[in-house]
Amino acid sequence: MQTARMIVDRDYIIDRTDEKLFCSFVEPLGRCIYGGLYEPGHPSADENGFRRDVLDLVRPLNLTMNRFPGGNFTSTFRWEDSVGPKEKRPHRAEVAWQCIETNEFGLNEFADWSRLNGSDVMMTVNLATRGVLEAMDCVEYCNLEGGTYWSDLRRSHGYEKPHGYRYWCLSNEIDGPWQVGQNTGAAYGHLAREASKAMKLVDPEIKTVLAGSSSPSMPTYPVFDADALDQAWEYVDYLSLHTYISNLKGNTPNYLAKALTTERMFKEIGGLFAWMKAKKRSTHNLYISFDEYNTWHTVSGNERLEKPRWGIATPLLEDNYVMEDAVALGSLLITILRNCDLVKIACLSELVNCISHIRTRTGGGCWVLPPYYAFLHFSKYGRGTVLNPRIDSPKYDSTDYTDVPYLDAIPVLNDDGRITVFAVNRSLDETLPLAVELRGFKDSYVVEEVIVLSHPDPKATNTEDNPDNVQPHAGSAAFEDGLLRADLPPLSWNVLRLVPR
Ligand code: AHR
Repeated sequence: MQTARMIVDRDYIIDRTDEKLFCSFVEPLGRCIYGGLYEPGHPSADENGFRRDVLDLVRPLNLTMNRFPGGNFTSTFRWEDSVGPKEKRPHRAEVAWQCIETNEFGLNEFADWSRLNGSDVMMTVNLATRGVLEAMDCVEYCNLEGGTYWSDLRRSHGYEKPHGYRYWCLSNEIDGPWQVGQNTGAAYGHLAREASKAMKLVDPEIKTVLAGSSSPSMPTYPVFDADALDQAWEYVDYLSLHTYISNLKGNTPNYLAKALTTERMFKEIGGLFAWMKAKKRSTHNLYISFDEYNTWHTVSGNERLEKPRWGIATPLLEDNYVMEDAVALGSLLITILRNCDLVKIACLSELVNCISHIRTRTGGGCWVLPPYYAFLHFSKYGRGTVLNPRIDSPKYDSTDYTDVPYLDAIPVLNDDGRITVFAVNRSLDETLPLAVELRGFKDSYVVEEVIVLSHPDPKATNTEDNPDNVQPHAGSAAFEDGLLRADLPPLSWNVLRLVPR
């Protein structure tokens, strides 16, 4: 294949990455919590029932924040059910996932678990079937020191210090017909504005996230977003967007190009922000909270309707992620970095078992699926200043896209002076030669490390019995006279790291 060329100039900066780009999402769905990160009685569980073996896989992801508790789950969530003595907590018919929610693991358990892995919490309040007052109460419970009904209740539950949560989602995917309490953009925008105003009266330090379109493929996108923003612009800080991509038709070249739709969505929403700011004669800025993204093959969620209803921790959405999913996810991660001037929060959905790359067996072991490594590298090496490369790559056409570059790549200047280039080769059968020219850097560099995730079988995966079938290996690259050269294997995720000499 023809060489893909990339020019990286030290002065061409997109933006610094926000710490909140490296987040995940935890929902009481299937075995994400129960039998996932929480399983009292499991041999590895600590005194709180948190699985230590799962924590050992979560901690290296260096997550700054996790969104909780939903998701579709939020739309009938009464947060008060999930606090206080466990034996008094009600069991509820959780209609979004057709299960029984025991509330055994609730708001404070998630605070404890998050503390263990060093991450903050982004809470979601229910504005689908509840209102402004319940949202205010939740902020009061979580964030006020004491001396009020809800903050004193928290203290009586053993949490003397407030949780101090800064980021709050104003409901979830309220545009979706599957949502209990679906709403129009204008009506939701009005309610969210009032909720945000009131929640900020309780705690002026908080930032709020308006729910935008659940997918750019929704027929109401982007009018729903415009209508909601029109109501709430001055009162909220982020707009939530979601994206799941899938390979349901078994068309891998097309699947690997799907991040281009996400790229387009970010540009469109950036345009919408500029227009709304002009319309309102506003000085206020909004940013994107991309708080659910991943690849997802059981995407219709209909699986929940096919299983017996009202089970507890019924396995759901446990997609069997394979090598090609790691590359598809890699492109989504690169797209987030390329748009980091606009995208300031990003949550990989979800963290354990459901739509997740960490898999457990209830009562048994846990292991990781191939895309886990792409996110691991992104979080470990993707922080710093993202540079705007000039890329000239050979291209292909797929069913839904034309001129798809085989190379998807982004350079990051890390704060320790290293340069990390993330690169995907979308070709299924050809090696892609890459030449990266560095311009305007004072230091001279040497190749420190090349990490490659590839496998001859695009459908290869890891299992409990064979957990290391797909795992990163060392690659090679040469750096001479400001030119970095590497050969990217077919269908691969690559991390090229340069260190100042
Ligand atoms: O992550 C699974 C579901 O996907 C979430 O509950 C919902 O927000 C989205 O539709």
